[in-house]
Amino acid sequence: MNRRHFLLSQLSLAVSTSLFYRQSTADTMSGSMDMGGMHHGMKSGMPMPDANALSLPTGQPLSALWKLPNTSKKAGLFKSRIIAASKMVEFVPGKQTEVWCYEGQVPGPLIDVFEGDTVEIEFINRLQQPSTIHWHGLSVPATEDGDPADLVLPGKSRIYRFTLPVGSAGTYWYHPHPHHFTAEQAFRGMAGAIIVRAKEDVLSSLPENHFVFSDLKLNANAQIPPNSMMDWMNGREGQFVLVNGQYQPTLTVDKPHRWRLWNACNARYLHITGVPMTLVGTDGGLLGTPQKIDTLLLAPGERVEVVVAPVNHTEKCVLKSLPYSRGKMSMHGMKPSIDTEIKLMDVTLVGKAEVTYALPNQLRSITPLAAPNVTRQVMFMEQMDMDNMKMVDGHPTGMHFFINGKEFDMNRIDFTGKLGDIEQWEIINASDMDHPFHIHGTQFQVINRQIGMETTPEPYLAWRDTVNVKPGQVVRLRFKQPNAGNWMFHCHILEHEDLGMMGIFKVI
Ligand code: C2O
Ligand code: CU
Ligand code: CU
Repeated sequence: MNRRHFLLSQLSLAVSTSLFYRQSTADTMSGSMDMGGMHHGMKSGMPMPDANALSLPTGQPLSALWKLPNTSKKAGLFKSRIIAASKMVEFVPGKQTEVWCYEGQVPGPLIDVFEGDTVEIEFINRLQQPSTIHWHGLSVPATEDGDPADLVLPGKSRIYRFTLPVGSAGTYWYHPHPHHFTAEQAFRGMAGAIIVRAKEDVLSSLPENHFVFSDLKLNANAQIPPNSMMDWMNGREGQFVLVNGQYQPTLTVDKPHRWRLWNACNARYLHITGVPMTLVGTDGGLLGTPQKIDTLLLAPGERVEVVVAPVNHTEKCVLKSLPYSRGKMSMHGMKPSIDTEIKLMDVTLVGKAEVTYALPNQLRSITPLAAPNVTRQVMFMEQMDMDNMKMVDGHPTGMHFFINGKEFDMNRIDFTGKLGDIEQWEIINASDMDHPFHIHGTQFQVINRQIGMETTPEPYLAWRDTVNVKPGQVVRLRFKQPNAGNWMFHCHILEHEDLGMMGIFKVI
């Protein structure tokens, strides 16, 4: 456990010399270091710009997500187009910020479809980098998964086409997946929500609110800077957590609602509380039974559904993210840093005595997966190579994130499995930081979670595609891959994924 800390103390020495100045722009420094003190002594009329002094307007009513239009007249066919391009937007009043986005929207448009629908989306890449659209959490044929092997080059396009299996209703999302560029494209604005609805849904009478959380880091010129060395190591976090692209908006809830929450941040853990919520769904749809919760830990990539039912009186609440320690290092002396509390949104609950709502006791039935045909181990590891710590083409050379001791290789199959087999995977975190595990193409059931000698059976059945694994923890999960092909599995801190914390599971 001390290995990384030892290496990091060496790294902190390097900070004061040349290491962090390779990128040499103010970009690298802003947000992660307090530069304020350096400017105060200056006597010029114009104060130096300071990224920490930027402010975004708050308190605006939350906007609904803009829906991707369906251009098909045929029942059961959802047909549309998504263009990825750069665009100028005004986050800071009076300043233009360049973003990269889908259909000109930050976050991307909401894809709202039904189980059984065939989805046909033309993707046009107008960026200067290769890209893909990956349909996070959906079970699609491997050729349509938008994985790093299937790049859409700049100026090119392709059509993604898949049919949503019956039983797959849930809360999903889409984002780019070109190896080495996923993190950058995502933090510049490319991510959008998907809702797959069931024709029969016990909660369908409830109106919905949707919250896509994303992280915005701006430099002093209100531009989105490239990743710094610390961003690569810890995963990037910005000064501003946005909800549907807005900073600390407001929402009034005057009757029972179903909320869907997406953590579309590159690396930020959301430890949500402040509004009374009942958990009713995870990544892959509804739970069997509703679960009372006080706080909600939403790791990067995860989604949940909750029900919020105002009672009796009017109550002003603040939806916020509580401090959480995920083992990241701070810039100041490379000490472990704990996230501070942040405000996400003001929520006013307006309850009327005559409006009562009782959640059904059973939401749907989930069958536990049977005993596995095969068991595998996936170990997350980190290694810092101090003699080789520099930035080359915006990527750090000496920072390694491994699965089972290996960095991702597009030409290596890490595991081969058989179609229809029940797989049990033990995800072991042998590093000093939390890492959220994600696998493509299917949903899994967590069986138990172990720390030291203590194994805790999972308290309820749920379908997930992303699960957090803490340092020293083992998470056991089971799944079946419904489709043949190569399926990625990786840490969903996108910086770690880009640096190699990813493998390939081939199903034949
Ligand atoms: Cu959000 Cu490889 O995925
Ligand atoms: Cu995915
Ligand atoms: Cu990670």
